[in-house]
Amino acid sequence: MKDQSATLFESVFAEDTYKGLTSYPKYLHSKYIYDKKGDKIFQEIMAMPEYYLTECEFDILKQNKVDIARIFSSDKDFDLIELGAGDGKKTKVLLKELVEKEYKFHYLPVDISQNVLDELEAALKDEIPEVAVKTQQGTYFDTLEKLAEYNSRKKVILVLGSNIGNLSHSEAVDFLRNIAVAMSEDDMLFMGFDQKKDPEVIMNAYNDAAGITERFNKNLLVRINQELDGEFDLEKFKHWETYDPETGTARSFLVSKEAQRVRIDKLDLEVKFDAWESIHTEISQKYDDAVVSWLADEAGLVVERDFADSENCFKNYIFRRK
Ligand code: AVJ
Repeated sequence: MKDQSATLFESVFAEDTYKGLTSYPKYLHSKYIYDKKGDKIFQEIMAMPEYYLTECEFDILKQNKVDIARIFSSDKDFDLIELGAGDGKKTKVLLKELVEKEYKFHYLPVDISQNVLDELEAALKDEIPEVAVKTQQGTYFDTLEKLAEYNSRKKVILVLGSNIGNLSHSEAVDFLRNIAVAMSEDDMLFMGFDQKKDPEVIMNAYNDAAGITERFNKNLLVRINQELDGEFDLEKFKHWETYDPETGTARSFLVSKEAQRVRIDKLDLEVKFDAWESIHTEISQKYDDAVVSWLADEAGLVVERDFADSENCFKNYIFRRK
């Protein structure tokens, strides 16, 4: 094994992979699932019947678009800034309503993928040409730094899809606090949080029969094989999901079906697995009102209103600065 202090990694991905696979217990970061292939598998997940999140949030936006649009605009011109815009399927419901009522706003979708932004811009030009779009390529972090510069106009910040669920509570507070410091008194944050519910429903969403989530999870190993010259045999790992109803945390693992050694050439590393040893890969946190209020409070925000579907499957909260 390499002397770590002397190692110069070729990328942050390489360094994080080295750290995760030489730790005990082993882990990998879920954000690395999302390369081009991972993005596509996630689209497949969003279309699965078991993955209730998409449909629930879509319903909430459809049912409440009139109220939501009115709250966003409140007689002022504003910038609608969406973090992690994706294909904009859900956002279009709100955009259409805002355009119909002739509210004055600019739409600023932010995404890590320029490709996604180009497609979104083209689709909007075609479907809702009245929307003034200004795309921004970058990470959440780049954008949050820039957010405060938009202070000439009122801001509404949109984060859909329970993306916050991949963060631990302390990371979530940091994330919310970074948004809060960029907000002025008039500004609003509109964010989706998947809710605690029947554990079986949650388990099925992250452990689908067709094995799409398994493929998504294993994309981490595929990336290591491709980008770091790893030799993971995907068949020798099992996708495993747990959900703890007490903490509301769903966790994904890859479990080694046998004792094995896996060479990763570009890390100059051989990873040793005992039989049934795990790699922790992702958390998907589920929330309730009390936890959301607590996170907001810690971050300097306060819940102003929330919108739910009829079964309280999913909720979208509006936050303001405290
Ligand atoms: C993109 C974080 C909302 O945790 O539900 C879906 C990612 N992982 N299936 C989630 C995911 C496995 C998803 N988020």
